[in-house]
Amino acid sequence: MEKVVAIHDKKFSLYIDEPTIQRRINELSHTLEKDYRNKDLLLICILNGAFMFAADLAKAIEGDIEVSFVKVSSYVGTESTGKVDELIGLTADLKGKHVLIIEDIVDTGLTIDKVIFLLQDKKPENIEICTLLYKPEAFVGKHLPKYVGFDIPNKFVVGYGLDYNELGRNLKEIYQLKPE
Ligand code: IMP
Ligand code: MG
Repeated sequence: MEKVVAIHDKKFSLYIDEPTIQRRINELSHTLEKDYRNKDLLLICILNGAFMFAADLAKAIEGDIEVSFVKVSSYVGTESTGKVDELIGLTADLKGKHVLIIEDIVDTGLTIDKVIFLLQDKKPENIEICTLLYKPEAFVGKHLPKYVGFDIPNKFVVGYGLDYNELGRNLKEIYQLKPE
């Protein structure tokens, strides 16, 4: 029988189960171990959504890696430019590092564009993107994710770190919005 969860006013049905997520993370970890052999790898987890993916991916990768966490905040500044973006919590020294941005989902790709713009300032050796989910139909960004867990259709999903109005992040699986 179809597994359904209710979050706030909406219903979601099971879309990617836990073993499938974990198997894919294992595959990604092997690819990353190969691609970053003998390189200083720094994972930068974009909070809040990527916390669960980053934790499981970091555990699956063997060898010395650094893990750091940032949050993208946009606030309305007092300047006439209006909206200013900043990365909160970036303490790691990025000089000469191979930075891998860890995202839960790349949708339009605009968040990733902002993050890369802000990280480039810190002069890392290079920057790539690893996202658990990617919605190719919604993408209008400048930077394609190099490592993708699953390509998914342009439908709203929750679970495994992703929220619907702050609920659903603790689900072990990924659920897709049910049509009304
Ligand atoms: P983007 O800037 O459009 O690529 O989207 C970035 C952020 O929007 C993601 O990091 C998520 O936090 C959120 N987001 C996009 N699609 C979904 C979804 O289907 N479910 C939950 N959050 C989403
Ligand atoms: Mg997010």
